Amino acid sequence: MKDMVEGYTTPDGRQIGGVLMELKNITLRFGGVVAIKDISFDIREGEIRAIIGPNGAGKSSMLNVISGFYVPTEGEVWFHGQKRPAMRPYQVARLGIARTFQNIALFDGMSVLDNIMTGRLTLMKSGLLTQAMWWGKAAAEEDEHREKVEKIIDFLEIQNIRKTPVGRLPYGLKKRVELARALAAEPKILLLDEPMAGMNVEEKEDMCRFILDVNDEFGTTTVLIEHDMGVVMDLSDRVVVMDYGRKIGDGPPDEVRNNQDVIDAYLGVAHE
Ligand SMILES: Nc1ncnc2c1ncn2[C@@H]1O[C@H](COP(=O)(O)OP(=O)(O)O)[C@@H](O)[C@H]1O
Ligand SMILES: [Mg+2]
Repeated sequence: MKDMVEGYTTPDGRQIGGVLMELKNITLRFGGVVAIKDISFDIREGEIRAIIGPNGAGKSSMLNVISGFYVPTEGEVWFHGQKRPAMRPYQVARLGIARTFQNIALFDGMSVLDNIMTGRLTLMKSGLLTQAMWWGKAAAEEDEHREKVEKIIDFLEIQNIRKTPVGRLPYGLKKRVELARALAAEPKILLLDEPMAGMNVEEKEDMCRFILDVNDEFGTTTVLIEHDMGVVMDLSDRVVVMDYGRKIGDGPPDEVRNNQDVIDAYLGVAHE
């Protein structure tokens, strides 16, 4: 039973809440390129929401609109029941929305631990000046951040590489560190742009498990762009299908898989 306000329980017993974010008639243009064309959908609290579609469909652009990094040319984003105004980057960072990137964006020379700590920067109250004046207070705050980060490190099973420079890690582990850094911000919404692209089967299975565990353990609402249809079917509660900037499907995975427009545009052709 899907209720707009109350939410519902999934077949596997997870609780999905009411609408957390609503995207209303979003259009995004880059000069003459229309990356997103009049798309509306919502994201519910606690849900794993997938966005699929061929390359160039506008998926990453949509993630940037959700995060507040791009201001749509037309349309509105509603968050927590309020229309979200256009924001400056520092305001965006405080929204409680964290992300990973299609191309890994970590500091190669820094350790795993330090990379994950950067995920907490927006939560740190003590700037340099206050640190100079209130050394004790800042130190206590640092301990607290470190504790939270250690918890995430345990949760994602990367204790053994916490001191390793990220540049030395294999691809699959880098992706996991990126997930850890996003989680360190304690986000309300977690955005994952192709978290499993380029992974081998085993790495994919691990990542799937971690995404599910994170959702289960922290109740993190997750929006995920993914090409592997098996993964999408296994992970997501609902799927938005994009093609040439338009929305051509929206619903539970089973429903979307049987939608003729989706089959014609996307599922009919092979995707790696
Ligand atoms: N910053 C940008 N400037 C100009 N065009 C862009 C920019 N970002 C994306 N685009 C264009 O918008 C369209 C959608 O891109 P994107 O959102 O990256 O698609 P996807 O993630 O589905 O592959 C593409 O035609 C792309 O070239
Ligand atoms: Mg993309």
